[in-house]
Amino acid sequence: MKNNFYPFMLEREMGTWEHQVKYNLSESGVHPMSTADLFGNDPKLIEEFLAVKLNYPETNGSLELRESIAATYQGAKAEDVIATTGAAQANFTSILTNLDQGDEIVIMLPNYMQIWGIAKNLGLEVKTFSLKEELGWGFDINEFRTIVTKNTKLIAVCNPNNPTGHIMNSEEIKAVVDAAEKVGAWILSDEVYAGAEHNTDIFTPSLWGQYDKVLAIGSMSKAYALPGLRLGWVVSNPEMSEAIWSRQDYITICPTILANKLAAYALSPEVRNRILQRTREYVRRGYLNLRRWVNEHNDFFSIVPPDAAAIGFVHYNLEINSSELVKRLIHEQSTYVVPGDHFGMDHYLRISYGLSDEYVNEGLRRIRDVIAS
Ligand SMILES: Cc1ncc(COP(=O)(O)O)c(C=O)c1O
Repeated sequence: MKNNFYPFMLEREMGTWEHQVKYNLSESGVHPMSTADLFGNDPKLIEEFLAVKLNYPETNGSLELRESIAATYQGAKAEDVIATTGAAQANFTSILTNLDQGDEIVIMLPNYMQIWGIAKNLGLEVKTFSLKEELGWGFDINEFRTIVTKNTKLIAVCNPNNPTGHIMNSEEIKAVVDAAEKVGAWILSDEVYAGAEHNTDIFTPSLWGQYDKVLAIGSMSKAYALPGLRLGWVVSNPEMSEAIWSRQDYITICPTILANKLAAYALSPEVRNRILQRTREYVRRGYLNLRRWVNEHNDFFSIVPPDAAAIGFVHYNLEINSSELVKRLIHEQSTYVVPGDHFGMDHYLRISYGLSDEYVNEGLRRIRDVIAS
């Protein structure tokens, strides 16, 4: 076994604790839907679904699914899309397809740390730029420009961002596109939280279509509240989709036929609107609980309001290290949140609020009790 391996701490710890504790506020999506919820409890649709033969689907995603995904990106066609086993595989195969050991990658931090870990494990040359709390979780554009060099092969952003919920503004997008274009780099834009906006019903525009070398990553897991489908995608161009597909052949072959069917149904325009409305209700109402709690304890906690997503990145003003604090939460209050340490940022907690009011409020009460003690 190789020793020099960077484990994906966030996922490994979540996998260890999320089903063990009573109050899991580490969840990064909204309260998931059941298959019956998805079908609006329509017995005919449920019956049809039960009759689906458990065969392999087209291994790059059924045409119906790829067309439904493409329809959510202005100007995209089914050939630009490959369906994957979650955004996790979409990210992984996109990096595998485009970068080799020693290649330079520029990564936005903080971030869902998957790409950072993959890059380290593949021996890529990792450069980073930071979202800053004092800039409302934006980044310093001038500083960013100095990070990208002629050797940069790919710039990885997460927009809307996990964990801060920041949506890039037009200047930030322009800076990323201009920098990539200048050196011919690809942009990998992880957009799994698009659709979970707080202040607008406008779906966060994709970077796809703003420059010709964009890998736009999407998923049914977050804004569509269907993480158990394990269905994600990459939207790029036909040649890149083909290249990613040939890596996928070795890894998962394809996502399941049930996921293909359910995701295509969920992305049909009317159903999609219904799901996104549900999601926005969850995140907007849920955030009020978190905000009230932060305000009530503002001698300890502060937060920059997220633009999107079901998670808040809360700063706390105490000596204790974030992993230590979370350990105490688990063992004393059976409550779990993600420590800032997993994003390389101590003294923060990533707390989810896209769940039921009672659940979120009880979890928050338990965090307060540990802090008080
Ligand atoms: C930003 C981001 N990208 C990708 C993923 C992986 O999502 P999926 O469930 O689609 O594999 C997550 C999961 O938390 C995420 O937060």
